[in-house]
Amino acid sequence: MPIAATLSAGPASSGTSRRHSVGRAIGEAFDARRFGENTDTVVGKLESYLEDLSVRGLELTDPAALSHAARALMTPESETVAAFDDKKLAAIVDLYLRTGIPVHSPGYMGRQFSGVVPLASVMDLVSSVTNQPSSFYEAAQLPNVAERIMGEELNQFIGWDPGSFAMVTTSGGSLGNLTALLAARNDKFPDYWSAGGSALGGRGTPAIAVGDDAHYSVSRAAGVMGIGEDQIVRLPLNERKQICVEQVRPVLAEAERRGLRVFCMVASAGTTSVGAFDPLDELARVAREKNIWLHVDGAHGASLLVSDKLRERLRGIEKVDSITWDAHKMMFVPAPCTLLFYRNKNKSRGAFRQKASYVFDEEPDIYTELDSGDKNFECTKRPMIMPLWTLWAMYGRKLFAEKIDYLCELTQEAHRVVAEQPDFDNLHVPEANILCFRYRPADLIRGDDIHRLQVAIRNRIKREGNFFISKVNIDGVAALRVVMMNHEVTPEHFRILLGEIRRVGNEIFRGQ
Ligand SMILES: Cc1ncc(COP(=O)(O)O)c(C=O)c1O
Repeated sequence: MPIAATLSAGPASSGTSRRHSVGRAIGEAFDARRFGENTDTVVGKLESYLEDLSVRGLELTDPAALSHAARALMTPESETVAAFDDKKLAAIVDLYLRTGIPVHSPGYMGRQFSGVVPLASVMDLVSSVTNQPSSFYEAAQLPNVAERIMGEELNQFIGWDPGSFAMVTTSGGSLGNLTALLAARNDKFPDYWSAGGSALGGRGTPAIAVGDDAHYSVSRAAGVMGIGEDQIVRLPLNERKQICVEQVRPVLAEAERRGLRVFCMVASAGTTSVGAFDPLDELARVAREKNIWLHVDGAHGASLLVSDKLRERLRGIEKVDSITWDAHKMMFVPAPCTLLFYRNKNKSRGAFRQKASYVFDEEPDIYTELDSGDKNFECTKRPMIMPLWTLWAMYGRKLFAEKIDYLCELTQEAHRVVAEQPDFDNLHVPEANILCFRYRPADLIRGDDIHRLQVAIRNRIKREGNFFISKVNIDGVAALRVVMMNHEVTPEHFRILLGEIRRVGNEIFRGQ
């Protein structure tokens, strides 16, 4: 007989001895019916929030005023558990919604996080309630199986041997890049994990070669790993802001002459600034020649692989060693949800080398074989695959492909719209859903004035709160940057944005 049946007559048996061991208020806080009521309140608010598709940006709040408002919602009670107050819950949710960036509004064109498919967040709620840390199969069975399945599904677009690759989820693209770089370093210098820098016996210094426009997480990883930011070998870019293949061999040769031992080259599949895709095919050839690990930071753009029209941007992806793929960017699920792929599954065990008898089994069985605790940094890890797998299971690939296609076409259209404006400069031909441009009235010529104007425009647009866009320096001069993450945005919205930029730019230019 199940043990629970001998202990109580069921969940409603308020008279059991278990219920008497804690105060009533604690029981209430954990109460299932209260949970249902709270969820109704919150979901109702979220529904109205999602229904509001008015064009707006961020309502930027003074941090002191926001702290004050947040503190006012906190119970002064500290000696007893405060009584539940549903109005307070509603006020907390209202404050949260009002002060966040409305990522589902057509006014949001700013960054790489996006409005999620609402069903994905509902799955996140299930994960939160059941609280299953997913680094170990026994603690999160379906998430671990779903992780395997999702890896297999997405590998169809990468093209690796299904029996040889591995995929592990991790908390964000930055951690994905760090993990891949650790695996690459330990592969090249197997004693480094235990012996540290002395593993090289004075024969050179480990180094990483990266495109000049790589995301900062790559040089951060070099710092964290003790490689040192100075040992980053910068690969020059061509006019399309991709790694210039012709220059890779000479730059690597020069690094070698300086005593650097480049163990990994990092290419971007979608740079953060302009969304440029490095030429993977050619870089893979160089990496093979030099016996260097090739990692692709596809945090932003790997999702283009699911699109028949756009997959070509990642030509050669099957030849690389590892890929960081953020589903919380272009697959529209709540963050974090990063998938780290390895071509060779044996290498996926190389990033970390711990022994811990309380979690790592020396003799894996059919269950522990699915554990990922030895391959990802986290011990407790969110079952981040569940929202993604659920969407894939319910809607299939096309949900993602069609939206990505639309966003990239919209960005092409935005590029055409900018080209029609005499007082705007396009800075690149978009390869994905990121577009950078500048507002430049005819009599504005000096680089630093152009720079200051873009920064001021971006800040004023943000403060006015009708749109949310970002900025980035391109060749040392600031540019306005839109990231099209929202299928509610149309070319008309973009035209209105340009009108706003022109108005604001002129006001700033005339000193208003
Ligand atoms: C190309 C690229 N790599 C890595 C990252 C870091 O990813 P995360 O924010 O998930 O840590 C980003 C984030 O914008 C990115 O654009």
